[in-house]
Amino acid sequence: MSSTLVLLRHGQSQWNLENRFTGWVDVPLTGQGEAEAREAGRLLAAEGLRFDAAHTSMLSRAIHTLWLALGEMDQPWVPVTRHWRLNERHYGALTGLDKAETAERHGEDQVHVWRRSYDIPPPPIEPERDDDPCRDPRYDFLDDRVLPATESLKLTLERVLPYWHDALAPALKQGRTLLVAAHGNSLRALVKYLDDVPDDEITQLNIPTGVPLRYRLDDRLRVVESGYLGDADKAAAAAAAVANQAGGGTA
Ligand code: 3PG
Repeated sequence: MSSTLVLLRHGQSQWNLENRFTGWVDVPLTGQGEAEAREAGRLLAAEGLRFDAAHTSMLSRAIHTLWLALGEMDQPWVPVTRHWRLNERHYGALTGLDKAETAERHGEDQVHVWRRSYDIPPPPIEPERDDDPCRDPRYDFLDDRVLPATESLKLTLERVLPYWHDALAPALKQGRTLLVAAHGNSLRALVKYLDDVPDDEITQLNIPTGVPLRYRLDDRLRVVESGYLGDADKAAAAAAAVANQAGGGTA
């Protein structure tokens, strides 16, 4: 039985606008981000998609994107699961820093490696930083050993995959239609897994904010087809803008 999975990166956040490394910090959507979320809902409604369930992270930019998109689709009843395993990659010591300033200090190539390489994490967040987002009470239920101090994409994939196997894959094998509203890098990790993207090619993948990415999967969850909804040039330009947030460095 085939199934449909839609991945949706949250709309523009306040720290996307300010060009700051965000990770697990819970920053709100901007007005543009809310508009992007509503437009995503309109694109999904135009495709006639009706979701059996939705999944998102424990960060409000993704949660609110989902709410706005479901509202625009007039499907507010869709069951929603919020899970820390869908959180954005933890940016470690870079958390809160301006991306362009960081590139000036460390070089564009080094920042590109930290942002887009597969297995090289940013430096860990300093243990004395009281603004470490993992200290938020919302994570009190978690064993400290699972809370990251920094994450490479590989480490992000390793903590996203259990959610894929436990929550997403079983529903998709039943032919369900799922919506996952998450983050640039937690979705890059999932896309790497779904499309079997080689480690040295994932460095070139950037996911735009607020543009639904639809996958059609076969009964063994192999990708039959995938693509962004809406204007392809607009999606490509938005992805390029993400790539250039810290200069045009290449791996
Ligand atoms: C962040 O965490 O800063 C953004 O959500 C993703 O940033 P990136 O595109 O620099 O990885």
